[in-house]
Amino acid sequence: MTAFYWTIFLLAALCRKTGGQFLDLKNITARDAFLSGTLPDGFLWGTATAAFQIEGGWDSGEKGPSIWDWYSHLPQNVPWGDVATDSYHKYKEDVQMHVNTSLNSYRFSISWPRLFPDGTNTTINQYGVDYYNNLINELQNNGIEPLVTLYHWDLPQKLKERYGGWVNDTLVEMFENYARFCFTTFGDRVKYWTTFNEPWSFVAALGDFNNDPDYTMKYKMAHNVIRAHARAWHTYDDDFRSAQNGSVGIVISSIWGEPADLHNPADRQAATNYMEFFFGWFANPIIGNGDYPDVMKRMVRESRLKQNQTVSPLPEFTEEEKVYNNGTTDFLGINTYTARIISATNETQTCHPDNHNFASACGYMPDLMGVKETIGPGWFYMGSNIFWFAPWNIRGILHFVRERYGYTKPFYLSEVGIGETYKYHSPPNLNDTWRMCFYLTYANEALKAVKLDGVDLRGFYAWTLMDNVEWGSGPDLAFGLYHTNFTHPSRKRTPKRSQGLYGSIARENGFPDNANHVWMTRQWWEWCHMDEAYAPTRHGYVEPTNNVRPTQPAPCPSVSTAPAAQSLMFTGILGILAALVAFCSP
Ligand code: BGC
Repeated sequence: MTAFYWTIFLLAALCRKTGGQFLDLKNITARDAFLSGTLPDGFLWGTATAAFQIEGGWDSGEKGPSIWDWYSHLPQNVPWGDVATDSYHKYKEDVQMHVNTSLNSYRFSISWPRLFPDGTNTTINQYGVDYYNNLINELQNNGIEPLVTLYHWDLPQKLKERYGGWVNDTLVEMFENYARFCFTTFGDRVKYWTTFNEPWSFVAALGDFNNDPDYTMKYKMAHNVIRAHARAWHTYDDDFRSAQNGSVGIVISSIWGEPADLHNPADRQAATNYMEFFFGWFANPIIGNGDYPDVMKRMVRESRLKQNQTVSPLPEFTEEEKVYNNGTTDFLGINTYTARIISATNETQTCHPDNHNFASACGYMPDLMGVKETIGPGWFYMGSNIFWFAPWNIRGILHFVRERYGYTKPFYLSEVGIGETYKYHSPPNLNDTWRMCFYLTYANEALKAVKLDGVDLRGFYAWTLMDNVEWGSGPDLAFGLYHTNFTHPSRKRTPKRSQGLYGSIARENGFPDNANHVWMTRQWWEWCHMDEAYAPTRHGYVEPTNNVRPTQPAPCPSVSTAPAAQSLMFTGILGILAALVAFCSP
């Protein structure tokens, strides 16, 4: 019987249609079908955090301030980062929270100014070195693999004051020194490094807090960040790899720009251009040909000429630099939360929440022309106007990167998460069914990327461990598997219901038929694809007084109530139907 099912499955797989670099996910029934199965052995399941968002202890020991400490201490802001979730003191608890969630990995970032208070290696803060040594040792003692980010946006404030930040190419060497120090000090135990977290976000969206509507500084910043990344990778490759045997990657954020009409060449081109600006800006020099995407170079030039600027603000790499940049990653971390539908347009786009702009028309990619961003029906609003429910985004982006760049090295989903805006409600609602739905659907798409699309995906990191400081907006958007009480001096953490579910997915390495949460997933699946499942994430949502919404599916029965044979049969038939629909739909 099993052989019969497999034959049909394999035949179905042959009917698969793709749109080249754009995976054809237009058939919604097929796209949203549940898939059972497990991720490859050794798959890393973890959470991701960032130093500024959790550590606190902002001036403890001899730590120097970062640009975020500077920003959060401006009179109009609240310095939430001073204590954050107090992980500087509670790192052991952070590790135990991973243990209790059955996770085998933890992605955290090192704070550059905690190690080098003024950004340079002239003074080293031994308290900072001790802190990260303790954290790494604690992880190791608990069998948890660290994946360490060197730069999650907290530039030493002194480097900003002295050099203007990333706009100055002196920072390339400073970063190399800092990376070298980290490899030397922690590399005996850390085997997975990423240089930068989401360069697009801290360059395009933040820009080191510079006022640069013209983007002249931002293009320079990006240029130096790419050079710094390449420098750090080569440093590891030349001086550490043979002794430490680890790998160095970069985390690039992107959402999947899905062409509105896959058969319309103009929409496909618009979606390609969108991806080239958003993702390719940083990826093309590293996994493409060492240089910026051609389309980006052309569009920046053309758009500036229209403004009578004869010199393009996009810097140029020398031929030597292109060779040096190319291939400087051992793996790619992809942070992805959502998607957009992209169509070609001749009309000028305006930036407005109703227009669903993420990356275009709001000044973030000012030289990208002819692109309109929208969302589709069934894309539900999740906590913030930029995040819309679109789990298939995972398949779309991984497939795109592989096909567009001929990329064959491993991927890690380095951040995937959902936030809600009502965290100050008291008592907190720990029954976060929307987050359970989110992880069921998004993790299932990760499984599909591996099983259906053959992507070499090796890890999944939930954003985030506990509710933390969401950068400029403080702790008002809560992404945690654990609730953090920000009014409590010791930042008490309490598991939410999603923590148990995510732990179960991790423990079972996905969705094997006999897992308890798979039985539950089948019951919840339809509801998890409905708008009301995500309603509680929204601002202004009023919690029902009895805390239970009537349409919410019943809690999962224990697996033992489902007769094994019947369950297997059900799964087999459902799997075949899902596979047939998924692969053979027009
Ligand atoms: C960043 C995180 C941030 C999250 C949610 C990601 O882009 O890496 O630091 O908290 O988005 O906004």
